[in-house]
Amino acid sequence: MKFSILASLLSLSALAWAVPNPLPGGSSTVVRDPTIIYNPSSKKYFVFSTGENIQIFTSPSLTGPWTRNGSVLPNCSKINLAGNCALWAPDVSFVNGQYVLYYSVSSLGSQNSAIGVATSKTAEPGSWTDWGAVVTSTPGGVYNAIDPNLINANGLHLTFGSYWDGIFQIPLTNITTQASPPPGTHVAGNSGRAAEGGFVYKPPSSQYYFLFFSDGVTPLNGSTTRPPAGQEYKVLVGRSTSPTGPFVGQLGHALTENLNPPTGTLVLGSHDNVYAPGGQSVYHDPVSGRDVIVYHYVPNDAFGGPSYLGINYLDFSSGWPVVVS
Ligand SMILES: *[C@@H]1O[C@H](CO)[C@@H](O)[C@H](O)[C@H]1NC(C)=O
Ligand SMILES: *[C@@H]1O[C@H](CO)[C@@H](O)[C@H](O)[C@H]1NC(C)=O
Ligand SMILES: *[C@@H]1O[C@H](CO)[C@@H](O)[C@H](O)[C@H]1NC(C)=O
Ligand SMILES: *[C@@H]1O[C@H](CO)[C@@H](O)[C@H](O)[C@H]1NC(C)=O
Repeated sequence: MKFSILASLLSLSALAWAVPNPLPGGSSTVVRDPTIIYNPSSKKYFVFSTGENIQIFTSPSLTGPWTRNGSVLPNCSKINLAGNCALWAPDVSFVNGQYVLYYSVSSLGSQNSAIGVATSKTAEPGSWTDWGAVVTSTPGGVYNAIDPNLINANGLHLTFGSYWDGIFQIPLTNITTQASPPPGTHVAGNSGRAAEGGFVYKPPSSQYYFLFFSDGVTPLNGSTTRPPAGQEYKVLVGRSTSPTGPFVGQLGHALTENLNPPTGTLVLGSHDNVYAPGGQSVYHDPVSGRDVIVYHYVPNDAFGGPSYLGINYLDFSSGWPVVVS
């Protein structure tokens, strides 16, 4: 009797905590650091991913089918830096009537990096114009100029950075021009912390701005050993009433605090066949009217291979993002 009550309580809580699987449609689409946008004129979703000078995928729906079609800058970035033909970590948004895509130029583990920007009227392959560098970094500084994210709220703010002393944010006067120089405001992470891929998002339904970031070790294609359990990539968040922070986790600690356990509230970690989810972006889907998180993950049963496209709905009604069906 006692045992069966305990067993049913356990299964109830397992149900309550079950994290939904990614929406169908992305499980064969190889991506890293995906970012998404919908073009209402062509009625197409566009996902942009690290690789091949920013790969483009299109789909008529969030559940696919996703079709690979060309690259944003097939002839490389005009930024004169090692890595300008291997662009990373795109961030797409729609500003003043055009699609705006920030990208990173770097080499693995190097601070010789730059964030560039390209624009397009349609988001289609062949339509992108490169404007070159917006933020750069050099060895010895506190930040690395990679992992860009633009938010258009009380002006334009560019969030960037990964590892080193953390994630930073500067204001822009327009999409190509700094309003004040980097590093700007420190918004998350700290020296020695594997915090990257900052993304600021305000759901239409909420008064808060949320800073999502990826924390931990991201397995690359070809990895042979997993990091210790719990140290793999996961998506964490903090929130603020301002797009410029300070962003605070559910326990009341700013994301910039150096604490153990580390600051930030869990949004999405490994579950079921989803291992090490991260490289996330968040989007208000105009078709469903719902918020979605878009990320990459490695299938648990295919560790050592590439990562795939994950998309899930988010619910903010509790005041914090929860992955829901
Ligand atoms: C790829 O994009 C080009 C340019 O917009 C378009 O003409 C073509 O139909 C697309 N191909 C596929 C398979 O979607
Ligand atoms: C890339 O370069 C090739 C060869 O010069 C050219 O034909 C093509 O139009 C260029 N593509 C873009 C998108 O600029
Ligand atoms: C942004 O502002 C700079 C400096 O005022 C100007 O040179 C540049 O043309 C502007 N860029 C855009 C895309 O409006
Ligand atoms: C993953 O690595 C394997 C082995 O090196 C390679 O054949 C494959 O093309 C890679 N896949 C991707 C998507 O990079």
